[in-house]
Amino acid sequence: MKLIDTPIIFTKSKQNVQGAEIPRTKIPKLNPNEIINKNLLREDYAKLPELTEPEIVRHFINLSIKNHHVDRDIYPLGSCTMKYNPKINDKLASHEKITSIHPDENEKHIQGALKILYELERYLSLMTGMNRFTLQPSAGSQGEFAGLLVMQKYHKNKGNNKKYVIIPETAHGTNPASVILVGYKPLKVKSNEKGRVDIDHLKSLMNNEIAGMMLTQPNTLGLFEDQIEEINEIIHSEDGLMYMDGANLNALIGITKPVDMGFDIVHINLHKTFSTPHGGGGPGAGPIGVVKKLTPYLPIPMINKTNENYFEWDYNYPKSIGQLHTYYGNYGILVRAWCYIRTLGENGVKQMTRQAIINANYLKKKIEKVYEIPFSNGTMHEFVASCKNQKIRGIKVLDIAKSLLDYGFHAPTIYFPINIPEALMMEPTESETKETLDKFADALIEIDQKITESPEQLLNAPIKTPVKRLNETKANRELNLRFNYEI
Ligand SMILES: Cc1ncc(COP(=O)(O)O)c(C=O)c1O
Repeated sequence: MKLIDTPIIFTKSKQNVQGAEIPRTKIPKLNPNEIINKNLLREDYAKLPELTEPEIVRHFINLSIKNHHVDRDIYPLGSCTMKYNPKINDKLASHEKITSIHPDENEKHIQGALKILYELERYLSLMTGMNRFTLQPSAGSQGEFAGLLVMQKYHKNKGNNKKYVIIPETAHGTNPASVILVGYKPLKVKSNEKGRVDIDHLKSLMNNEIAGMMLTQPNTLGLFEDQIEEINEIIHSEDGLMYMDGANLNALIGITKPVDMGFDIVHINLHKTFSTPHGGGGPGAGPIGVVKKLTPYLPIPMINKTNENYFEWDYNYPKSIGQLHTYYGNYGILVRAWCYIRTLGENGVKQMTRQAIINANYLKKKIEKVYEIPFSNGTMHEFVASCKNQKIRGIKVLDIAKSLLDYGFHAPTIYFPINIPEALMMEPTESETKETLDKFADALIEIDQKITESPEQLLNAPIKTPVKRLNETKANRELNLRFNYEI
């Protein structure tokens, strides 16, 4: 039994120690009894931790090094990409002029803030070819939900009685979950021997009850769905809509546009393509863009620019699916994406995409002699290895992932997509250097050698992290998140 040895900040608190000088305010002191209902007033001071500045800094620095993050080393998580977030994004988002405004302020006084949102929307529209975007959804998954609500409203408005949404078997789990949430039923389409949608199976599923198809492009095997034109024809033939899960847009942006591939709706995971924090399902940002015929259904408010270059909220969308988020989404995240796009510019964005594809292909080549890559033809920004040969020799993909932690790396995504046995899904992203990719590939190759030389090291990994290997079943069944929980 071992106690986790990091006390929480409250236990370090000492009375009357001050770590920060709060600036004096010119606002006259008000009597709280006069402005706040008595029942809501606190009876005592808030019990905030009292520490010196160095103690606070050390507390958080020590915490941050117990965890792996992209500022420490490569984080090659496939599908749910954690790419490097340039520091200039944070610098801008923390600027006083950004942090000191309130969404309830009169729009006249926050023109600059509205301009950023308006411009971000325009950039996303230009890059995807979509007519308009809403920036409200706070995660890719919420974007999916919003996009499907738009799809549903479009069909209801036309009097179409639609019931199903087609999803490939390799899709991210949030796709079927979102379909069920809006009240449609998911229908699974199989993959063919090349890892793309099986067209014959798709044809056999198609009928006039199909509301649309959700397709991840490139798909979660990192492969471009090259029969996209045929897929569109099939879905559109019964007035179905094509929804692009644009989580992997970082493999396409600047090179091709969803609208040119026939998509009607797209969501963008800003964290994956435009370097913002992910937020684990929110508070991140997952804007959705739609073609013209679907624009009336977008959430309100939208932002307009008048002829006098004035930015204003627009609630005049009578067919809208409603409001999705308080105010207008996660502003700080949106500012970061705007900053990233402005920093890179058109050529920079294109370069980013190319580099992401080159890096994934380089890493794949380095390890393919040791790790089998079942669908290797046409890799874009990510690829999936199968560790089934390693499993035959006694080491599961879970052991390989845990062993990578001992090398100081974050593990790739494992056991997804589910059509690949012992899947190890890698996305190095564009910001990693050749040296880092070499180091990571060498670690994977060395792990494979250890299967014969010292398998116990792999079975017991990780041994260098603050928390060692957990009994995951027990951790799930006996969840205890209290401080000083014994492990
Ligand atoms: C293909 C795909 N779709 C949807 C999502 C869900 O996005 P989010 O985690 O922002 O909710 C992800 C995760 O990033 C993804 O990889």
